Amino acid sequence: MSQAATTPTAPQAPAPAGAAACAVGLSKVYGEGETRVVALDSVSVEFGRGRFTAIMGPSGSGKSTLMHCMAGLDTISAGSARIGDTELSRLHDRQLTRLRRDKIGFIFQAFNLLPTLNALENITLPMDIAGRRPDQEWLDLVVATVGLSGRLRHRPSQLSGGQQQRVAVARALASRPEIIFADEPTGNLDSRSGAELLGFLRESVRELGQTVVMVTHDPVAASYADRVVFLADGRLIDELAGPTPEGVLDRMRRFDTKDRTS
Ligand SMILES: Nc1ncnc2c1ncn2[C@@H]1O[C@H](COP(=O)(O)OP(=O)(O)O)[C@@H](O)[C@H]1O
Ligand SMILES: [Mg+2]
Repeated sequence: MSQAATTPTAPQAPAPAGAAACAVGLSKVYGEGETRVVALDSVSVEFGRGRFTAIMGPSGSGKSTLMHCMAGLDTISAGSARIGDTELSRLHDRQLTRLRRDKIGFIFQAFNLLPTLNALENITLPMDIAGRRPDQEWLDLVVATVGLSGRLRHRPSQLSGGQQQRVAVARALASRPEIIFADEPTGNLDSRSGAELLGFLRESVRELGQTVVMVTHDPVAASYADRVVFLADGRLIDELAGPTPEGVLDRMRRFDTKDRTS
């Protein structure tokens, strides 16, 4: 990928208390000249510690880009992206790799499980690679909470889609990361497995104190979160606390109307 045109600026203020991650004036530009795309246009947002935040917006609005920039999976063009007090643009590749490994959990739409490893081996793989021993008590709690206790020796091909996604969730939780980023985690699940996964994510926030940031385009999925932030054309345009599916839909309809009349 080409270097960004603008240099990320130094943080002006310390990370807000209670924010597990935050962006300040975060911009992301892909390509140059005719292929130039401003995927994020000066986005400022905080993700509260021990909170479940959903990121919503139409396709192409920059949801995945925001998540990837916040998770250190993609470089930023301008502004600031922080995990806790750590400014990501200041880290070298190896430091970034370590931060991702130690502080961040990921759940992707595709489960990304290794087919030759069983469920337990998949769950502990990131820690095995890091040479870290899982906290057995925590691991047992995570496995029991996601309801995988009887399935740990099964390989992904022997598990249903919902169970595979639960393995992916347990893998993200196993190292007790400071923050979990999930990009459309229910995208490949039937509605029942999806509801189960969302209920579990919410429980991990309420009962285990986990911090979760989830990208979704589904108002029902978003209603499991404590708060929804809305993106449109790379900008943060609104947010909603204590969302219900109806409340989220209502807000989305209002944006549509504005689009048509502007
Ligand atoms: N690697 C990339 N190269 C060029 N353009 C990209 C790249 N990734 C995303 N984009 C563009 O950035 C915009 C935001 O994309 P994305 O964050 O994937 O949106 P969303 O997740 O909301 O659907 C889109 O216009 C998309 O085409
Ligand atoms: Mg996306």
